[in-house]
This record gives sequence, structure tokens and C-alpha cells, in this order.
Amino acid sequence: MSHAAFLAAALLAFALPLVYAASADQWRGRSIYQVIIDRYALPDGADPNQCPSGTRTWCGGTWNSLRQNLDYIQDAGFTAVWISPVSQNYEGPSTPYGDPYHGYWIADASQLNSRFGTSDDLKNLSDELHRRGMYLMVDVVVNDVMATSITPDLSTYMFKEQSQYHPYCVIDWSNTTSEEQCWLGDTVVPLPDLNTEDPTVVSGFSNWIQSLVKEYNIDGLRIDAAKHVNIGFWPVFCGNAGVFCIGEVFGSDIDDAALYQGSDALDSILNYPMYTALLDAFTIPGPQNTSAVTDMIAQEAAKFKDPTLLGNFVENQDVPRWANLSTDPQSLYNVMVFNFMTDGIPIVYYGQEQGFDGNSDPYNREAMWPSKYANTTTYQLMTTLNQFRNFLVNNTQWATTPTQVLTTSPYGIATLKGDCVSIMTNIGSPPQNISIPVYTPYPASTSLTNILTCQQWPVGSNGTIDAQYSLGGVPLVLYPTVLLQNSGLCGNSGTTGSTNYVSSALPTYRPVISLLAVFFSLLLAYLSCFM
Ligand SMILES: *[C@@H]1O[C@H](CO)[C@@H](O)[C@H](O)[C@H]1NC(C)=O
Ligand SMILES: *[C@@H]1O[C@H](CO)[C@@H](O)[C@H](O)[C@H]1NC(C)=O
Ligand SMILES: *[C@@H]1O[C@H](CO)[C@@H](O)[C@H](O)[C@H]1NC(C)=O
Ligand SMILES: *[C@@H]1O[C@H](CO)[C@@H](O)[C@H](O)[C@H]1NC(C)=O
Ligand SMILES: *[C@@H]1O[C@H](CO)[C@@H](O)[C@H](O)[C@H]1NC(C)=O
Ligand SMILES: *[C@@H]1O[C@H](CO)[C@@H](O)[C@H](O)[C@H]1NC(C)=O
Ligand SMILES: *[C@@H]1O[C@H](CO)[C@@H](O)[C@H](O)[C@H]1NC(C)=O
Ligand SMILES: *[C@@H]1O[C@H](CO)[C@@H](O)[C@H](O)[C@H]1NC(C)=O
Repeated sequence: MSHAAFLAAALLAFALPLVYAASADQWRGRSIYQVIIDRYALPDGADPNQCPSGTRTWCGGTWNSLRQNLDYIQDAGFTAVWISPVSQNYEGPSTPYGDPYHGYWIADASQLNSRFGTSDDLKNLSDELHRRGMYLMVDVVVNDVMATSITPDLSTYMFKEQSQYHPYCVIDWSNTTSEEQCWLGDTVVPLPDLNTEDPTVVSGFSNWIQSLVKEYNIDGLRIDAAKHVNIGFWPVFCGNAGVFCIGEVFGSDIDDAALYQGSDALDSILNYPMYTALLDAFTIPGPQNTSAVTDMIAQEAAKFKDPTLLGNFVENQDVPRWANLSTDPQSLYNVMVFNFMTDGIPIVYYGQEQGFDGNSDPYNREAMWPSKYANTTTYQLMTTLNQFRNFLVNNTQWATTPTQVLTTSPYGIATLKGDCVSIMTNIGSPPQNISIPVYTPYPASTSLTNILTCQQWPVGSNGTIDAQYSLGGVPLVLYPTVLLQNSGLCGNSGTTGSTNYVSSALPTYRPVISLLAVFFSLLLAYLSCFM
């Protein structure tokens, strides 16, 4: 091999895109704020009065306007943002279900959606998130495209051959093959189903996702309608993406859901089974069945490959806002504490912290700006929870330590994860003469601090803590006071950082990857001397 070829190989290594590509392990300790681009923030100067509740057309949010309003998300302690799909959508006349302001009505997946900005705008957003040490998660739709008839003109899509789609049929929800191959939507807005068994579709999507992830330095993917695609498609697709994949597997059936996590499927899924259990246990009014949650914790531990990667939520663009189902604010505070303090990745849907209370689609996709991004009680709660969770992730093995249930009472549950005891109740705001007695692993007289109020809680005899609700049904997050040093919480000074987080922080693995690239190109150059 000549010196010139050697040099070319070495130069190539440096010219390779610096891929951030975050793995499941790097996502475990993150927390995610979910936004619908069209609804999160307006560009400067836009009319803020154009997006009343239930609007089914574009309200004007863009990738740039999100980038200009990231402080609100970062100040709340989030370490990742999930954005609605970026691909080109249907641009025809408004349908009976409105326009695709949400981004899920895919036309040509290989093009960006110019409604939300340019390629540079999306890169700027990605760069800005990385500059802040945050990850970018992009929502992708590969199950289907959108049409306005069941015989659409295929030339407008990324895949143009009839053989690349499953033939039209109505889903039979008792038949898995039918769920995978028949069409979502209806005859007004059908969603033609891609033939994800077809090798040209597999390779087309593989190439597409590989270049999308590289081009925009995407750190993770949220996958729409994952259970409507043959499971075997996912390891190939996500392998080509090279980043963490979390799929939407809608439904409360845990056995069905658990099939979708693993090396033969996806890294993770959105935790619909736990969402259902949280509704059963915590909504007011509701069945108030706390056993549903303890039972689900046990089932998830037994059935999922890794419950510490599941995406925990109580709201998203497809389900009613929590406040629409449960008006007592304490019920929201308690489920939020659960989602932040249990196994998995907490996800907060924009506006949850602003008291939004819309019902199903389109009422759960409110414009964010009328809230004025206020520093509400819920905003402060999630800030404290993020700060505490980030501290635990940074400094302990908390994220990989499984949650244990300490107590199940008709009024709530107590859990232990790592060194943290959380007590969540479903009694609501009015004070009640009720208590939840909890046996902790701590010796009598150990000083615990409730990180939500900074009150001290000495442990009683035999390790007991008695959560009393004479001030109403507030959640408790108790942590040994001596371990709060450097947490930045409750009067302790801020963290000095530490090894765990650093190993997964962006700036450190960037050079590692380019060094690896140099190494491999040198190896290649060396080997090619002998060819
Ligand atoms: C956005 O990206 C373009 C092209 O890379 C660059 O010229 C511009 O300065 C960026 N804008 C901001 C605000 O980062
Ligand atoms: C299940 O659905 C598939 C796809 O529509 C169909 O071919 C198959 O016959 C169905 N099986 C049963 C038992 O109905
Ligand atoms: C409460 O949930 C448990 C676990 O899911 C279930 O077995 C039980 O039947 C439920 N109780 C009621 C009253 O619905
Ligand atoms: C639930 O949402 C619907 C539609 O957005 C709204 O009319 C209703 O007032 C909401 N209910 C509550 C309790 O917030
Ligand atoms: C929100 O208010 C709390 C309490 O006053 C304050 O400590 C915090 O800094 C505020 N957060 C922001 C982002 O302004
Ligand atoms: C609270 O309940 C306990 C036992 O259930 C009772 O002994 C006590 O008097 C009650 N306290 C008040 C203030 O009602
Ligand atoms: C002491 O705590 C254990 C659980 O850790 C419990 O089973 C036992 O009943 C408690 N003993 C007394 C006397 O409260
Ligand atoms: C976690 O560690 C990183 C890297 O040292 C640091 O930037 C960040 O502020 C820390 N966060 C918390 C909440 O401790």
C-alpha cells in the first residue's frame, strides 16, 4: 500500500461523521421530555391566539422554536427530548380529521417535513441539545404511510411498488398477523401498511434510518405502532440505526408487551401495562386498587428482559391528560413520584406540568404557549425529582438496582430502590386520619430527609416509618441525610460530578469514537499492505 492510500485512509477516519449514537445503557439514567413540535413553542412574532383547544391544523411550532425554548426543559432537569416525527407528511386538502400537525401522517419518509424547518434547523436543534449535554430522541413511523383512499398513488411515497405494501384489510384485533399486516386508520384516512417482510422494504428502511441517525446525530428512536410490524423487523432496523430504540406497544397485556423487549425485538417499550396499573391505583375517583401496581412491579420483574429500561409515563399524545381522568392534583404528584423513582426512564409529556386537562386526541395536544411556561408547583416537583434522580444516577448504582415493594396498603404503596424509600398514596388532597406504616431496612434513629420538602424523618424502632396524612395525601421521597452531600438538594452544595455519568456523557465518547475510527483505518491500511 502506498503512502498516499495510507494517508487517504487516515483522512477518511477523521472525516467520518462523529456519531453520538447512544445505547440502551446510556439511556437508562436519562429522563425524557416529550414534545409535539407544532405545539411546544411559537417563533418570535407569531400570533399566540391561533390555537384554541381541539385545533386540528398547524399552529406554527418549529424545530427552531423548540431550540429557542430549551431552557425551560433543561432547567427542569431533563436530560433528553423526544420530538414528534420529522419526515414529510401529507400536504393535500384538509381531511375530516384535520391536517397532520402531529407529524404521524407520513408521505415520503426520506424527505424532511418542511413545515417544521430545514435540514440545517434540525441539525441546529440536535447540536444545541448536545451542547447542553442532552440527548435527541426522534419519533419514527415505519409501519405505515398516510392516504385518503384505499387505492393511493404509490409514486408519492418512499416505497413505490405495490408489492412493498400489504393488501388492504381491516384489522381483526384477535389475530396477531392481522394486527401486523392489515391497515390502521379507516377508509377516510387509511394508513397503507408497509410490507416489512419484503427484503427491499427492509433494506430501504435500514439505509434510510442509518443515514437519518448519522445526518442529524440522533441519540435514540421512539418507534410508532411497533406492535403492528413483524417483530423480526426490529433487530435489523435498530441494528442499522445503531441507537436506543423504544417502541410504542399500545395495550395493557403484559405478556404481549414483554415479547417486544430483547435482542430479538426492541431495546425497550413504552410502559403501557404500568400506565394501566397506575390508573387503577391512583386516579380519583377510580378503583383505587394499589395491588394493581405492586402486582405489575412483580410481573414486570419476572417477564421483561430489563424493566430498568422501560419508558414510564402517565400522559402522551394518544391518551387523555392525567388531569382529565383525575382532578385531584395530589394524584398527579404521587404518580409522578412513582414514575421518577421506580425502574425505568421517566417521560413527561409537554404541558403535564401546566395542568393541561384535555381528553383524547385532539384535545390532549394543546398549545403550550398560553401557559407562559410558568414555574408551577408541578414544574417544581419534576425539577426536584430530576435533580435527585440525576444525582442518584451520577453517583450510585441506583438506575440498575431493581425496585422492591416495602408495603402495599389500601391507601398507597412504599417502594425501595437503591437507598431511596418512596411512599405514594392515593387518598388525595383532603387531610385524613390515615397512615401507611412502612418497614425500611434502616436502623432505628437513622435520619432520612424527604427530598420534596427537606423535612427530616427519623426512623423508628424496628426500622419503621409511619406516613401520616393529617396534611393531605402528599408523596414522600426519603433518603439517608448523610448521603445527600453534594446533591445540591436541601441545603447541600452542588455535585462535583462523578464517574458514572461521565462515562455516558456525550463529550467523552465522541473522541473515543473518532479514535476508534483512526485505529480501524490504520488497521485497514496495514492489512491492505498484504493484499
Ligand atoms: C444553524 O445552522 C447553520 C448552518 O449550519 C448556521 O449557519 C447557523 O449559524 C446556525 N444557527 C444557529 C443559531 O446555531
Ligand atoms: C389472520 O390474519 C391474516 C392476515 O389478514 C389472515 O391471512 C389469516 O387468515 C387470519 N387468521 C385467522 C385465523 O383468521
Ligand atoms: C386489584 O388488582 C389486582 C391485581 O391486578 C387484581 O387481582 C384484583 O382483582 C384487583 N381488585 C379489584 C377489586 O379490582
Ligand atoms: C376532559 O377533556 C374534555 C375535552 O378536552 C373537556 O371538555 C373536559 O372538561 C375535561 N374534563 C376535565 C375533568 O378536565
Ligand atoms: C421556580 O420557583 C422555585 C421556587 O420559587 C425556584 O426555586 C426555582 O428556581 C424556579 N425555577 C425557575 C426555572 O425559575
Ligand atoms: C385517628 O384514628 C385513630 C385510630 O383509627 C383514633 O384512635 C384517633 O382518635 C383518630 N384521631 C383523630 C384526630 O381523629
Ligand atoms: C419488625 O419488622 C419486620 C419487617 O421488617 C416485621 O415483619 C415485624 O413484624 C416487625 N416487628 C415488630 C415487633 O413490629
Ligand atoms: C452529573 O454529572 C455531570 C458530569 O459530571 C454533571 O455535568 C451534571 O451536572 C451532574 N448532574 C447532577 C444532577 O448531579
